[in-house]
Amino acid sequence: PLEKFETIPAVRQQIKHLKSQGKSIGLVPTMGALHRGHIELIRSSRKVSDITVVSIFVNPIQFNNPEDLLKYPRTLSADLEILSREGTDLVFVPDEKELYPEAITTEFDFGPMEQVMEGRFRPGHFNGVAIVVAKLFHILQPDVAFFGQKDLQQVSIIRRLTKDLSIDTSIEMIPTVREEDGLALSSRNLRLSENGRTLAPKLYQALQKCKTELLNGGDWFSIRKKVIEEELLPAAIQPEYLELVELKRFSLTYKPVNGTPFAICIAANIENIRLIDNLVIGE
Ligand code: PAJ
Repeated sequence: PLEKFETIPAVRQQIKHLKSQGKSIGLVPTMGALHRGHIELIRSSRKVSDITVVSIFVNPIQFNNPEDLLKYPRTLSADLEILSREGTDLVFVPDEKELYPEAITTEFDFGPMEQVMEGRFRPGHFNGVAIVVAKLFHILQPDVAFFGQKDLQQVSIIRRLTKDLSIDTSIEMIPTVREEDGLALSSRNLRLSENGRTLAPKLYQALQKCKTELLNGGDWFSIRKKVIEEELLPAAIQPEYLELVELKRFSLTYKPVNGTPFAICIAANIENIRLIDNLVIGE
């Protein structure tokens, strides 16, 4: 049965108890409003961990847009039902005072990695993510933690964090779960109108078009211009960025090198709701 913890001391005691029995811990950090994407992470954890822990916390310090934080969907009772049904062992649901009893003074700076894409357009976002993930790792002591490819740059930042700080948690990346029409599942999709919802799969279509043309040897800057002008703008989708990144160092590139993994990444606003997606090539 699912056990729910709201305080750091209580959950620490339980984790200590489980570890003393030699149980391995898999952690799935979330902000709730759980969907099939989160469920895939939970199932992946259950396959390799004795105990699967899910955290639910809408982390205020990673939101650079106050309206986005205010409107972030909160569906705790439905989330708890999903967790029970999925055989989650333990859920950690701290409130804001529990995790941030006072203002945080530590700051992370991931250098060039966070000066592009999400880091560039959401100043302070990855600092907020890294603070909360570092706290969760320290509190919950996971052997493995699961993150979605949907937030590709987040996975790179967290891998960097665990290396830089010698954190003994391995990071698993799980492929993006999509709707039938290709739209990547996201808690923010709940806020799209019917019309917005019909436009949203264009992000994935644009990525696929970029991929096909790149693999056909096309020039990245021409491809990008064409896809923005012919696929996105006519549908009234304003992309914030459409970038090609080399995944080893997470730096922007314009020419994929054979044999090194790279990704095409997009962020766009539809009805003032910010959606992101990406395709990884060559992994
Ligand atoms: P949240 O947006 O709730 O996502 C929790 C995890 O689910 C992340 O690792 C995210 O990449 C993954 N995820 C979301 N949509 C997915 C999809 N369609 N397919 C596969 N995985 C998907 O990401 C966060 O929360 C926060 O930044 C967090 C890491 C919890 C720190 O606050």
